Amino acid sequence: MSEMTVRRHVAPPLPHVDLSTKLAGVTFPNPVFTASGCAAAGQELDQFFDVTDLGGVVTKSIMLAPRSGRPTPRMAETPSGMLNSIGLQGPGIDAFLEKDLSWLADRGARAVVSIAGGSVDDYTKLAQKLRGRPGLTMVEVNISCPNVEDRGQVFACDPVAAAAVVQAVRRNTAPGIPVFAKLSPDVTDIVAIARACVDAGADGLSVINTLLGMTIDTTTMRPALAGITGGLSGPAIRPVAVRCVWQVHQALPDVPVLGMGGIRTGLDALEFVLAGASAVSVGTTVFGDPTAPMRVLYELAHALAERGIDRLSDAVGLAHRPPVAYVPEEPDPVGDELPVVRTPVGFEEERA
Ligand SMILES: Cc1cc2nc3c(=O)[nH]c(=O)nc-3n(C[C@H](O)[C@H](O)[C@H](O)COP(=O)(O)O)c2cc1C
Repeated sequence: MSEMTVRRHVAPPLPHVDLSTKLAGVTFPNPVFTASGCAAAGQELDQFFDVTDLGGVVTKSIMLAPRSGRPTPRMAETPSGMLNSIGLQGPGIDAFLEKDLSWLADRGARAVVSIAGGSVDDYTKLAQKLRGRPGLTMVEVNISCPNVEDRGQVFACDPVAAAAVVQAVRRNTAPGIPVFAKLSPDVTDIVAIARACVDAGADGLSVINTLLGMTIDTTTMRPALAGITGGLSGPAIRPVAVRCVWQVHQALPDVPVLGMGGIRTGLDALEFVLAGASAVSVGTTVFGDPTAPMRVLYELAHALAERGIDRLSDAVGLAHRPPVAYVPEEPDPVGDELPVVRTPVGFEEERA
């Protein structure tokens, strides 16, 4: 087999913007992370750029035991998106700790370990296994999993079940390691689930996981995925994701949000920040462009600089500021002044 040489991307200098972000007391140098399941544990991406340049590496959700996942086909393209039904294929927590987390720790990357289970007990054991492990910076709890003890009802769709998982993980995770609950958009009231998770001890929220979808192959006249339904991701879901981040930030403005869903560019990432995300994950885009997370970081920094914003934290939730109030002025005797419109958020004045 011929060896492929991959040229590593060297990040161009960033503009002078303070990109650091604080998630539940932990400071990250910048707000761009990978998304769970879209970059394994970062080794492959490290061929393309230095993964320690990212805010954090979110690993694929790991379960207690190894799993081979669902039958193929597991992926289908859709307009501006993709459907997947991988079924949480993975090596199990012990092999993950030995190979993947230790690699991330040796590399000096900030590892955000995503965990998934079929019962509260599974999540408890996973959190216990992670406790005290070098390299662990944060835990993301994937609650979009069927609860085997409740007829396969997805934890993320039931506030009581979601809270039970979060409480178990928080209790078994070392203090100082933030626990983020990852919310599903497939609910009537995402704020109710967000509140239940926060009340149960979540230090922050990851928003959003994929949306349940399906597609039918009109040639075979059967579902395109062997698993029949799958998770929809990519730009097609971005407006749903931005809406969810907006609603969660509006209801719980002090709770940090890691936003994701169809981010392809720095301006997409900025949308999430303006809606209330303190950091973002870049997922599906990485399959077509492995350098996307670094590009998004670079573009986001420039987008902030171009808007005269020199600290990322000043932009978090900025779209929630009250509508610009029109302040009519006394008629200008000279007649060459435009009316002044004031905003309450630090931009001294905007001219209408
Ligand atoms: C192939 C694939 C695998 C995924 N695996 C996981 C996973 O293991 N755990 C998880 O919480 N989310 C998983 N996700 C969801 C992503 O982390 C992300 O929340 C979602 O895809 C929206 O972001 P995106 O549109 O940028 O991909 C997966 C998504 C894709 C496309």
